[in-house]
Amino acid sequence: MSTHIGAAPGQIAPHVLMPGDPYRARWIAETFLEDPVQYNDVRGMLGYTGTYAGVRVSAQGSGMGQPSLAIYAHELFAEYDVETIVRVGTCGGLSDAVKVRDVVLGVAASTDSAMNVPRFGHVSFAPAADFTLARIAAEVAEERLVDLVAGGLFSSDQFYNPDPDIARTLAGYGVLGVEMEAAALYTLAAQHSRRALALCTVSDHLLTGEETSAQERQETFEDMIVVALESIVRLERAQNRQG
Ligand code: HPA
Repeated sequence: MSTHIGAAPGQIAPHVLMPGDPYRARWIAETFLEDPVQYNDVRGMLGYTGTYAGVRVSAQGSGMGQPSLAIYAHELFAEYDVETIVRVGTCGGLSDAVKVRDVVLGVAASTDSAMNVPRFGHVSFAPAADFTLARIAAEVAEERLVDLVAGGLFSSDQFYNPDPDIARTLAGYGVLGVEMEAAALYTLAAQHSRRALALCTVSDHLLTGEETSAQERQETFEDMIVVALESIVRLERAQNRQG
């Protein structure tokens, strides 16, 4: 048991899919994992472990925003020896390089959060994805004809941002989408020398005002989960432990 996760040692797999919404964790477990077992319901932040293609995988909700994600990611890395976390979420499109339903692979995550100030002082640390995992995910998406675009994310502390110009400024620097968690995930993975990746389907577009229907969101989300799970299987095989 850690402070916010009620799992016994060994109940959480080395590889974790992390949606923001805990009900998504349940949906991932029930839809994609064999023999899923729920290991957490503390604060309703559901977590499950099952297998996918013979590889043990967990699905753990993070909640919304970097402080919430950081609690779960820290405990998974520090207390449950988790090796890989793949955030599976949504983002708002910022750039004309992406359209709704695309999957953004977050190569790096800029942030307006002050969370890293106590860690690095005046140095602006660059939270970045694990290259091996990112390369594998890009390959898997290409093979499966999933529209994946790799580039920057903006991990904002504000869903309702009072500064509408910031999105345009960041888009001018190649940032593709805005979400609320990736920068903290990448920072913690770096701190603990683990692998992390954020995959986010574009659910709405801040430039065009385009939105996805609930049905489209669901289908795109499914494609992204398969990319995440197949990437974990490929990583695991590359590490020569199973299969
Ligand atoms: N802002 C922040 N997070 C998001 C958005 C957004 O517009 N869309 C989906 N996740």
